[in-house]
Amino acid sequence: MASWKVRLTPGDHEFRVEGEESVLESALRAGVSVGYGCRSGNCGDCRARVLSGEVRKVRPHDYVFNEAEKLAGYALMCSVTPASDLVIEMDVAAGPDQIPLQQITTTVRGMERPNPQVLIMRMQTPRTRRLRFLAGQQVRLSMDDGSPGSTQPLANCPCDDRNLVLHLSADPRDPFIARCFDQVENGEQVEVEGPLGHFVLPDETPRPLLFLACNTGFAPVRSLVENVLAQEITEEIDLIWVADKATGHYQDNLCRSWQDAFDNVHYQAVDWKSGMGMDALSARLRTALAGIDEPARRHCFISGPGEFVQMAREVTLATGILPDHQRVQEMPQATVNPG
Ligand code: FES
Repeated sequence: MASWKVRLTPGDHEFRVEGEESVLESALRAGVSVGYGCRSGNCGDCRARVLSGEVRKVRPHDYVFNEAEKLAGYALMCSVTPASDLVIEMDVAAGPDQIPLQQITTTVRGMERPNPQVLIMRMQTPRTRRLRFLAGQQVRLSMDDGSPGSTQPLANCPCDDRNLVLHLSADPRDPFIARCFDQVENGEQVEVEGPLGHFVLPDETPRPLLFLACNTGFAPVRSLVENVLAQEITEEIDLIWVADKATGHYQDNLCRSWQDAFDNVHYQAVDWKSGMGMDALSARLRTALAGIDEPARRHCFISGPGEFVQMAREVTLATGILPDHQRVQEMPQATVNPG
């Protein structure tokens, strides 16, 4: 199988393109946030100038280049694959603030209830629209009937930008979530606006990573872990998932499959036992962290209900993790009562 090296300029992003993959697909898999829109050759947003090397068209496109673009060597990155090593002039978002806010009407394509507390909802964008976002970010959701909306993190990798996944936790105070649990069916439309938030991977030299999730705070962590695994990062990755009885470790098998498939991934499931207060949970977290190599070198991601996030911040700071190396995501949900 052919494998070519692509370097993007300005900046120093480099990745490989394997087989017939498009340059855009490979860039997204490598976690490089380049500009694009439809991923199907219509919008022209992924056009970029090939400064050196040759490209080969792998799918037809409707977008028409003007003469100046043709002469300057522009190509659509969603429609070409390398035919040699490449240097391409293409803007890369330096952070979440450089990704434009997008509004997309999606269609509900799947509802799964692993237990009464959790609803996994899958929504698909139209074929010609994709949501450009970074792993770990959130979206604002609403229905077109004017009922109140909700902001929730996405659980899928940005490399699958057409199939958006939410992990919703039953919360009677949130009318949007209540409606999703009780009334929404496949085929209904949901308005998505985003991306939002800064719970994203740092754009710097890779460090070992530590993910702490509580209950459905696992959603953005899943997005981040899948994104990291797609980048074939070899640094150590530890995931600790705390779940109460009602929520459960509803994707425990997935986490165990990551651990089995990758030598650098380590997973601990921690039960938040009935009646256990935050002090006792903090002690369990300290025990779980005691088995982790070099915690002070880690970038740490904490996601869950506010009370948990606050406690986990203190516990991880005490292990020597620097405040600058901590990112937190408070889930828009009530702490589920462990009693
Ligand atoms: S992303 Fe729209 S043309 Fe490539």
